[in-house]
Amino acid sequence: MSVQSSKARPQSARLAAELSQAGFQRVADLALQKAGLTIPSSKLGMIQSRLAKRLAATGYETFDQYLDFLFSGDGANELPQAISSLTTNVSQFFREAHHFETLRTQILPALVERARTGARVRIWSAGCSSGQEPLSIATELLEFAQDIAALDMRILATDIDHAILGRANAAIYTPQQVVDVPDGILKRYFVEEASGAAGYRAADDLLELIAYRKLNLIDPWPMKNRFDVIFCRNVVIYFSDDTQSALWPRFHAALAPDGWMFLGHSERLDDVAARSFVNAGVTTYRPASAAGS
Ligand SMILES: C[S@@+](CC[C@H](N)C(=O)[O-])C[C@H]1O[C@@H](n2cnc3c(N)ncnc32)[C@H](O)[C@@H]1O
Repeated sequence: MSVQSSKARPQSARLAAELSQAGFQRVADLALQKAGLTIPSSKLGMIQSRLAKRLAATGYETFDQYLDFLFSGDGANELPQAISSLTTNVSQFFREAHHFETLRTQILPALVERARTGARVRIWSAGCSSGQEPLSIATELLEFAQDIAALDMRILATDIDHAILGRANAAIYTPQQVVDVPDGILKRYFVEEASGAAGYRAADDLLELIAYRKLNLIDPWPMKNRFDVIFCRNVVIYFSDDTQSALWPRFHAALAPDGWMFLGHSERLDDVAARSFVNAGVTTYRPASAAGS
């Protein structure tokens, strides 16, 4: 008898922890509505294993119970955790190196000169994940000019995911994560953690240039001033076409008339947006008004 019941339990536990197609659809609808994300049904297995951690954390035994809770008034505090488990946070230092080359050679000379006249210069890393992108930008700024901290030149780094922003703020990276950081940059701007726990912490000089904030790109944006450069890379690829189309005019409005915008390698403007921007390099765009500047 005891043998029978111990055999029966794992099976019922396994069945209970399966996400049904209907359950998956509830999650996909939520992701679209709350974060603009499209999750194809081929990702059911991935979503199931990611949300299984939330079941364990909240103590629910079935996905249906968890989802009922999530969609109820009581689930408001769980929502950010659920969204966090649905986002893809893969990032890398100096990812798509050609963008940093453009920043260094075509953008920074004029921007730093302008900042030295007292002007305000802002760079936005939209969908910054765990900080590799804004930190790569910050090292470019400091490598270009040591007096950046004294200028009004800063990076805003935003993400929807509070958990990943916690990691960005901690600014500690494994040796594997810093493999793309050139040795000289690693020595100058990262401090090896003493514990031997094999981690590198970004130096305060870099972190002082960056403000991390939580921002859902599909919500209204509180920023009042325009940005000179916007990095929004490998973010909209996860968005529905409608979400992307609604974003392009907002980025256009948020960008200085002579600004620059970088997208990820597999992201493209739609036909309508392509008329208000001009192509200025590989997945590099400027407002049409900037042509020739
Ligand atoms: C794949 S990472 C890209 C990180 C970095 N930009 C890069 O290229 O390495 C995508 C990031 O977009 C964020 N994201 C997804 N949906 C978002 C939304 N609606 N608003 C703001 N950020 C979002 C995710 O949390 C994730 O950290």
